[in-house]
Amino acid sequence: MKHTSLELESEGPPTDLPGISTRRDFTRRSVQAMLTISLLDHLCSTNLLAAGARLSAEKWLDEVNQIGLDVKGEKMKQTEWQVRIEDLLQNRIDLSQLLKLIDFERIEKTAKFVDNGARSIRPKFPKLEGVPERLVFGKQVFALRKGRSVVPHGHNNMATAFIILKGNFHGRHYDRVADEKNHMIIKPTIDAKFGPGQTSSISDVKDNVHWFKAEDEPAFIFNIHVFGLNPGSGKRTSRVYVDPAGEKLDDGLIRARLIDSKQAHQRYG
Ligand SMILES: [Fe+2]
Repeated sequence: MKHTSLELESEGPPTDLPGISTRRDFTRRSVQAMLTISLLDHLCSTNLLAAGARLSAEKWLDEVNQIGLDVKGEKMKQTEWQVRIEDLLQNRIDLSQLLKLIDFERIEKTAKFVDNGARSIRPKFPKLEGVPERLVFGKQVFALRKGRSVVPHGHNNMATAFIILKGNFHGRHYDRVADEKNHMIIKPTIDAKFGPGQTSSISDVKDNVHWFKAEDEPAFIFNIHVFGLNPGSGKRTSRVYVDPAGEKLDDGLIRARLIDSKQAHQRYG
């Protein structure tokens, strides 16, 4: 990493005789330069300086893929993947660049909307140099009319993240606290408006249930998912539909009935 411009900004006050540096000035400036470099190294290593830095499309895809491999290989905690993927979606690529990357213009022109629930569309990335052809993560775009929903559901054995591409949504997440034979015990964690560029994420351990209702039309969500995170869990990667309007328990918990896709769409689609 080049430190040149920042080093110059941190130079000490000019000497009394312009162009003539004394040994003491030289030493002082050397120490300041070293301190600058050391501070920068610290900032870089803690990722603070890089916050908000945009990546090229190639680098961005490569990083999304790398964290997918890491979480799938259990080298990265699922909660860390959630932080990293949301940072990548929100801060490391401009929304306009992401839209180009998935050819959103074509998606928007050709999307066939459904009267209930969300239409799922598979976008394609262009071939980019340095990006593996086979990516570990999957992707899709949800297209919705106003008032329609990605219906409430939890997930088994997967991690996924949303970024709103267009329109506004009422988004809700719940922690999956416990599983019962016919119910899931859930706890509300997020209940907010989501506009373009805003993200949320899911894993087996945090914010596992979500429900997004479109407040405008057309409304679009981009979704990234990594399947098969716990090969030993015995659970197939899948959605688990629930009805969040269940019995209210202590501590804000809800006993949400397990339902099927058809029931979820009849009630919330
Ligand atoms: Fe989901």
